[in-house]
Amino acid sequence: MTATDVPTSSTPAVSARTAAHIEATERYAAHNYHPLPVVLAEGDGAWVVDVDGKRYLDCLAGYSALNFGHSNERLVAVAREQLGKLTLTSRAFFNDKLSGFAEALCRLTGKDMILPMNSGAEAVETAIKVSRKWGYEVKGVPAGQATIITMEGNFHGRTTTIVSFSDDEVATSGYAPFTTGFRGVKYGDIEAVASAIDETTVAVLFEPIQGEGGVVMPPEGFLRDLRALCTERNVLMVADEIQSGLARSGRTFACDHEDVVPDIYIMGKALGGGIYPVSAIAADREVMDVITPGSHGSTFGGNPLAAAIGTEVVAMLEEGTFQARSTEIGAQLEAGFGPLIGKGLSDVRVRGAWAGIDIDPSLMSGRQMSEALMARGILAKDTHGSTVRFAPPLVASDDDIAGLVTAVTEILTAARS
Ligand SMILES: Cc1ncc(COP(=O)(O)O)c(C=O)c1O
Repeated sequence: MTATDVPTSSTPAVSARTAAHIEATERYAAHNYHPLPVVLAEGDGAWVVDVDGKRYLDCLAGYSALNFGHSNERLVAVAREQLGKLTLTSRAFFNDKLSGFAEALCRLTGKDMILPMNSGAEAVETAIKVSRKWGYEVKGVPAGQATIITMEGNFHGRTTTIVSFSDDEVATSGYAPFTTGFRGVKYGDIEAVASAIDETTVAVLFEPIQGEGGVVMPPEGFLRDLRALCTERNVLMVADEIQSGLARSGRTFACDHEDVVPDIYIMGKALGGGIYPVSAIAADREVMDVITPGSHGSTFGGNPLAAAIGTEVVAMLEEGTFQARSTEIGAQLEAGFGPLIGKGLSDVRVRGAWAGIDIDPSLMSGRQMSEALMARGILAKDTHGSTVRFAPPLVASDDDIAGLVTAVTEILTAARS
């Protein structure tokens, strides 16, 4: 420890400058996160730099909001240009950027219409509202009785309605009373979904890959079976692609892996290029037409800055290079982490540039692995005890990924010896 190094409540020693930022943040901002003790000041591509000038490979990428990397040149240029023109109109007026964004996102999703919002949770709320209204007005569900099937282990955001169907006690404790009308079933269990559907069911809401759950995938064929079931039972298939979509899994949408098209896509995170919160749902006209003036909205949703960035995001995705790179990174992660099963890892799940590793809990927790990686210049985030998830920006190089694999291997080897 140098003279300027001071210990914080977390294990790693940090500089006085870093400690001052952490202390002020902890003093004045609510403690709704438990960050690693690193204070970031700059980012470029797959790398970030802290206030002491130390570089880190960013293997969280803003929970996949930074799929295109930090300070992506194309996105920053579009944002800068739009900042100098017009940033907010509200939807009380039209703006000259929303039309192009809506058309582009409809093209990308193959859907007729979008409804733009800001955060992911708002888009999920929007999908819930649209599904319920469709249930009453189109399907004919008796007033006030709509139910939505949800999956155990889900993560869809933090609003009171959304945590109402979460089974994570930390996310729900102290927030009752909850919103009713949700029925949880085992993730990936098509029989359980089928049994839970009745005449009040308007939608099945699911993540094609559960990101916060630890990059958990349903059994092969589940998405296809769910598509068939929803069609047969006249229930909306609502895919939350906020974290799994927009090239993270190696395809534009994770549902593409089974050639499945849901009735509603929910998108967020990378839609704003890591620059600005941009979210949306996309659906066909017969579903989206239940929305009428005044029945839903947001001051910032569809604003010209968001729309300009989102349009460029779609243009980048339409080129297909990020999806291809994600697949390449995935192959490297799989080849690197796979052999560690039985050598410190109990399971490895990889889909595109997205990996969840389960560490033998007797060796270390996910938090301890994250701290050990941080000491080696890699930032990652634990989720659920002994699981760590890796989601590097899709601009990460082969050397970057090789460095991540080596670091994890060496940390596990040291822990086992
Ligand atoms: C699948 C999924 N849905 C919804 C959300 C909520 O998005 P936001 O944090 O932007 O509200 C998240 C965030 O991690 C997510 O992973």
